[in-house]
Amino acid sequence: MSKLRLGVNIDHVATVRNARGEGYPDPVRAAEMALAAGADGITAHLREDRRHISDADIDALAVICRRRGRPLNFEMAVTPEMEAIALAHLPHAACLVPERREEVTTEGGLDVVKGHNAIAPVVRRLAEAGIRVSCFIDADLGQVAASKSAGAQVVELHVGAYCQGVRDRQPNADALLEKIRQAAREASHLGLEVHLGHGIDFETVKPLAAIPEIMELNIGHFLIGEAIFIGLGPAIQRMRALMDEARATRAA
Ligand code: PXP
Repeated sequence: MSKLRLGVNIDHVATVRNARGEGYPDPVRAAEMALAAGADGITAHLREDRRHISDADIDALAVICRRRGRPLNFEMAVTPEMEAIALAHLPHAACLVPERREEVTTEGGLDVVKGHNAIAPVVRRLAEAGIRVSCFIDADLGQVAASKSAGAQVVELHVGAYCQGVRDRQPNADALLEKIRQAAREASHLGLEVHLGHGIDFETVKPLAAIPEIMELNIGHFLIGEAIFIGLGPAIQRMRALMDEARATRAA
């Protein structure tokens, strides 16, 4: 099994900065620390309302990732504005996400089944520019097939409901994990690379990392929260170690 990559999402460093309208804490400094601590890449979501990451952050993140030869995963809504920004920066990857202004966070996956005809041309233009495009979707076989048909090279499965289910000790958590496993298997079967993201913490990372088809986890909020207590570097190192343990156990 290939080594699982860890993308660290630094959006919530910017959330803290913006809460006081200050210039600190700096998400770019957090990105540098994350890479030094073992993150394989940096993920950032430039939202339409700029509630956390700013245009200037994306400019700076693109520069440091390029300088260090590490991937920047640009999370973006499917809008002409975000497409233009992606094409101007040419990040390694772009992850297409749904976005509603009133939501607290990305609450569900992109509906590629319904939005196929609008999404496919955006995927094509980004891919033609050399950007690796993923669709952030629910663990649903129809969404997996639609992502493939829209031309995506990658799907990122939204695992937020499963992670919340585990934290709340909900009885359906195992069933949600099984749906993620099935969607990952199907996506891989169709030739899509499979990533997971949303809500992953030290408890949920192991069962998710043990799914053999998964190539990358994108983790943010929990790591930034944990950084308050143990520091960002140690939080990332611990997450990395848990991912590696899950893979080693699986391979044994
Ligand atoms: N992946 C995607 C596509 C996301 O939208 C998010 C949240 O911004 C994440 C990963 C990271 O989720 P979390 O911050 O809950 O770890």
